[in-house]
Parts: sequence; structure tokens; C-alpha cells
Amino acid sequence: MAEKRFTIIDDTTGKRYSYPVIESTRGPNGVDMRTFYRDSGHFSFDPGFTSTASCRSEITFIDGEKGELLYRGIPIEKLATEHNYLETCYLLLTGSLPTRDALVDFDFELRHRSFIHEGLKNLFDAFPQDAHPMSTLSSAVAALSSFYYEHLTINKEAEYQEMARRIIAKIPTIAAFSYRHSRGIPFIYPDIGRSFTENFLYMLRAYPGGKMHITKKGENTIRPIEIEALDTIFTLHADHEQNASTTTVRSVASTGAHPYVAISAGISALWGRAHGGANESVIEQLKMIGNVKNVDKFIAKAKDPNDPFRLMGFGHRVYKNFDPRAQILKKYQDSLKEELDLDSNLMQIASRIEEIALSDDYFIQRKLYPNIDFYSGVILTALGIPRTMFTPIFVIGRTVGWISQWIEFKKDRDQKIVRPRQIYVGP
Ligand code: SDX
Repeated sequence: MAEKRFTIIDDTTGKRYSYPVIESTRGPNGVDMRTFYRDSGHFSFDPGFTSTASCRSEITFIDGEKGELLYRGIPIEKLATEHNYLETCYLLLTGSLPTRDALVDFDFELRHRSFIHEGLKNLFDAFPQDAHPMSTLSSAVAALSSFYYEHLTINKEAEYQEMARRIIAKIPTIAAFSYRHSRGIPFIYPDIGRSFTENFLYMLRAYPGGKMHITKKGENTIRPIEIEALDTIFTLHADHEQNASTTTVRSVASTGAHPYVAISAGISALWGRAHGGANESVIEQLKMIGNVKNVDKFIAKAKDPNDPFRLMGFGHRVYKNFDPRAQILKKYQDSLKEELDLDSNLMQIASRIEEIALSDDYFIQRKLYPNIDFYSGVILTALGIPRTMFTPIFVIGRTVGWISQWIEFKKDRDQKIVRPRQIYVGP
């Protein structure tokens, strides 16, 4: 069959420029424009890369129109309900779900890699007590590169996988230490007797000496329902195609820098409230609105072109339908209401915002739907997670996605150093 091509015509000169189509297995094909500047002396102009594919990838597929999300071809709904976060990590890293034995080995390895070098612990003392955990987290992860400097020159699959397991295992510990530092309370070391997700809650909540706080009724204060809820949140955040922070990780990978400073750069990019930082801003916003009666006033502000106010947790560059992750969390929220004593006032305000926004022309025309960040905050609040830890929790979930994309970048023969051009309009 003849190769599919695209032709662009310069109306000034009538010259025709023809380019091959790169076929996808799902979703839009691409037009291979790599020689467009050499051929035509023109740049394509696409700030924010709304119409630009930066790579071929086999990891995550999003259909924004249908509201579909697949990790390695498996729908997020199946992974979030029938599998756990560690299975999802293994799937993203290797391309297939683990066998029972492989999962046991993977879990065992992550538990034993969850400790950080004592020297790295001292770094936290350099930070003011009220430092935001995202700031200490991104700094500590960058510093991790000096403790594993040999990862700078890895190029074999086994080395990639060891480097990936190391960072996936250590991020929750660093995040928990960042939180403990921000409260001025002693760090709690990982407990290898606990699962990945339970261990994170343990490192956040345990009293000095590792004593778990037992309620007056003698219950352990880490309940299975809480572990399951947080594990689902980690799974829903695990990867998301070429979003801003993943693009940052790939850009740093393209210069040949250490993988852990690429992850640190991804953490910094995620912090912005237009991206992962939105989950913290959503709760701030719901608390600022305070009462269902005030919702209309804030909807009007969000619609006012002269008002920079935006509804946090609404809209998405790709999803022009429901964010499937938001749908899963919304359903989950309803099932957790009693068990986790969710803040009904916040939930009332959130569902009122959603109800109005989904029937208001301004949001309908712009296809603005609630995204994952709109719902995650209410559940995390109910888990007793402090707001400043919402985005670090996003980091814990997303690290496997970033490092899987980093590995794919390293193996991609198409890739070169990221170096876009510009249209100069200066003097
Ligand atoms: C994440 O990319 C990913 O995959 C990210 C993520 C992931 O898993 O990695 O999904 C995680 O980052 C989710 C998004 C979290 N951010 C927020 O919730 C912040 C609020 N949302 C926005 O700032 C915005 O919707 C973005 C940043 C998410 C998307 O921005 P776009 O695609 O560049 O859209 P835009 O800014 O061009 O907006 C299009 C129109 C504009 O109106 P007009 O100029 O056409 O009149 O929609 C309006 C915007 O003003 N708009 C909003 C709005 N979001 C967009 N108006 C009010 N409230 C909002 N939230």
C-alpha cells in the first residue's frame, strides 16, 4: 500500500512540501515534520505543543474525546479495581502485569530499597521548618544522584530496572521525611514488614520509636480501607502520557543528565498549580468558597475574562470529556463517605460546582470537566493527609511513570537533545 503522506503548500511560492505519515496503533497519526525547516526555511509554531507529538510511546494511551486512559493497553478502570499499585508499577516498567512470584520479588525488592543513606537525612536540617514538602522533596531527590552517581552511565535493561526500583522505593521515604521535617517531629524509618502503601502512612503517622498510635478502642490507626484508598490514588496517578512534568523529565534525559535529577526536575514541574499542584489548590479553593451559597459568585469569577480566577481541578489539555480518573475517584468517594468520614460540606460545594459547570455554556463550549485533582483532595483530607502533602502524594504515584518514560526515551533511536527554535520578533 502506498505510503501515506501529507503535503503542505506555500501559497506565496506555490512550492509543495510532502511529508510521510507516522501511523499509530491507537489515536491520531503523526506527520513526520523533522525536515520541514530545512525544506521550507520556516518553523512550525506551536507554543504549549497543542498539536505536536514529541515521541512515539508504548506506555500510556489517552483518548481525550472518549475519556479513555490505558496503561500498556489495559484500561485504568480495570487496574484501579482489580489490581494494586505495585502491579501497576511492574506493568508500566516492564510492559506486562507480574506473575505472582514476580510480584513477590518486586515487592520484596522495593521494601529493602526503601531506606535512604544517612548522609541524605542530614540534608533536611538545612531547610527551614516550614519549608513546603515539595521543595525539600525535589531537592532531596536531586541530591540522591550524588549517592548513586554510577547511574549516570547506565545503558543496559537490568541497570535501568535497578535504578527505577531504587527511586520508586525511596520517594515515599523522602516524602514522609519531608513532611516530618515540616512538623519538626523525628523521622520514622520504613518498616519492611509493611506494604508499600501502608508503609507510607506508617512513616507519616507513627510516634517516635515507631509506635503506632492506637485509638482508645485499641484499634490500629492504619485501617485497610485507608490503605486501599491511597493505593487506588497512587494507581490513578501512575502515568499520563506526555504531560508537562513528563516532558520535563524527557527534556532533562535528552541532555544526558543523571536520571534522578531528571525526576527532580519532573517534581519541580509538577508543583505548579496548573499541573499537579492543583490538588492542593482545589481544597484551598473549596475552603475559601466555604459554603454552597457562595458557589455562584465563584463560577462567575471563573467565567469572567478579566478575572484571572480559575476553577482549580477543572479543565484539561487532553480530556475534552470526563477525566476517567476523576470518574473513578468520584464513585470511590461516594463509597468511602461513611467509612472515611469525608467532609460533607466540601463535598457539597464540589458537587454544586460540578453541577453548575456541567450545565453552563462557558464550561460546555470549552469542554471543561472536573479532572483528577478535583476529587483526590477530599479523599486525601479524609485520610488525614495534610494539604501540603497532596502534591508529594501525586509525586509518589507518578514517579514510576516518569522513570518508565525516561527508560523509553533512552531506548528511542529517534530521540535527540531537546532544542526547539523560536520566531524572533525583537529589534
Ligand atoms: C493535571 O497534562 C496532563 O496530563 C496533566 C495531568 C497529569 O496526570 O499529568 O492530568 C494532571 O495537571 C490536571 C490539570 C490540573 N490543573 C488544574 O486543574 C488547574 C485549572 N485548569 C486550568 O488551568 C487548565 O484547564 C489546564 C491548565 C488544565 C489546561 O489548560 P489549556 O489546555 O492550556 O487550556 P487553556 O488555558 O487554553 O483554556 C482554554 C479555555 C480558556 O478560555 P478562553 O481563553 O478560550 O476564553 O478554557 C478556560 C481558559 O480561560 N479555562 C478555564 C479553566 N481551564 C481552562 N476557565 C475557568 N476555570 C478553569 N479551570
